[in-house]
Amino acid sequence: MTNPSQKERTANLISFYRLALGAVIPQAMAAIVKLGIADLLQEGEKHVEEIAELTETKAPLLYRILRTLASEGVFKETKPRTFALTPVAELLCSDQPGSVRHVVLANVDDWRWRSLGCLTDSLKHGKSAIHHAYGVENYYEFFAEHSESHDTFNKAMVAHSYNINTPFIENYDFSGIATVADIGGGEGRLLASILEANPHLQGILFEGSYTLEKAEVLLKEQGVLERCQLTAGNFFEEISITADLYVLSFILADWDDEASLKILKNIRKAIGDRDCKLLILDYIVPEGNEFHLSKIVDTVLITFGNGCFRTESEYSRLYREASFDWTGNPESGTYASVMELGPIHTP
Ligand SMILES: C[S@@+](CC[C@H](N)C(=O)[O-])C[C@H]1O[C@@H](n2cnc3c(N)ncnc32)[C@H](O)[C@@H]1O
Repeated sequence: MTNPSQKERTANLISFYRLALGAVIPQAMAAIVKLGIADLLQEGEKHVEEIAELTETKAPLLYRILRTLASEGVFKETKPRTFALTPVAELLCSDQPGSVRHVVLANVDDWRWRSLGCLTDSLKHGKSAIHHAYGVENYYEFFAEHSESHDTFNKAMVAHSYNINTPFIENYDFSGIATVADIGGGEGRLLASILEANPHLQGILFEGSYTLEKAEVLLKEQGVLERCQLTAGNFFEEISITADLYVLSFILADWDDEASLKILKNIRKAIGDRDCKLLILDYIVPEGNEFHLSKIVDTVLITFGNGCFRTESEYSRLYREASFDWTGNPESGTYASVMELGPIHTP
């Protein structure tokens, strides 16, 4: 045990309380997002009375929430009771691609909080927290009965995908490729961005039929639907798709090794004796104590199902077992990782 001075102990207690009361922040952000306050401040800083009038809320209460968020870098009190956007608050504005407002809303969906409350049960019994909360294996089983939550989650993934994929697509060399297949590509945000940036490419979106219907809307809005083939399927059964480049973006994170191997082996089967590439976009969990998004989101994954983010050696082992070589790490441009795999051909 250390023997901190009183000054250090006080600082430790403040750190502790900030963490222990951290649940206030996502809910406060959600209230602000639901009221569209970041959007209002795009016109310029505003007095809390004016914000309250425009949002039909109670100014004294609103002030206390904005003051708390400002203390965490979301909004800034520029003069007494007047608030402006900060760069973090700008991310909440709804009119920009990649707006994280849907991420905020997905994070406070009831099932997320109820499942998080079951982490101790997970630790004791080994099943996902959502199993203990709702009796389902994973969040997809839950979504099958809760389409509103499914839609909220998908919108958050679209934002996440845009933010992760934009810099990666700028950096990646798609020349020499004619067809890209995004397996479990959600509402098609990644595929749309790839096709927009590369007019020579054709795309294939492989997804469950529910999400595929939503994807059709997004791909049409982005003007790339004519270059897309939409294929409904289950990646655990068969992925009978011929492409030059296959992509798995934030898919393996949902599944344990056994299930992940099934997906990888089905792609490997689709590749056969051809020489094309598979790109995996995911978080790689780094060693050490430093904060990395992969660590906190990996704890969220305990509530979603049986998946996890993996370390470099854990990904390596998985890829080898599915007959893939990890051939490169293209620049992702963000905190996510891009892993480039090629098929191992046995003579
Ligand atoms: C975490 S989301 C990732 C979505 C997208 N790739 C991205 O990066 O935004 C996982 C996706 O896998 C899809 N999925 C889940 N199980 C599937 C299955 N058995 N077959 C095909 N797609 C599936 C889900 O519908 C969901 O869109």
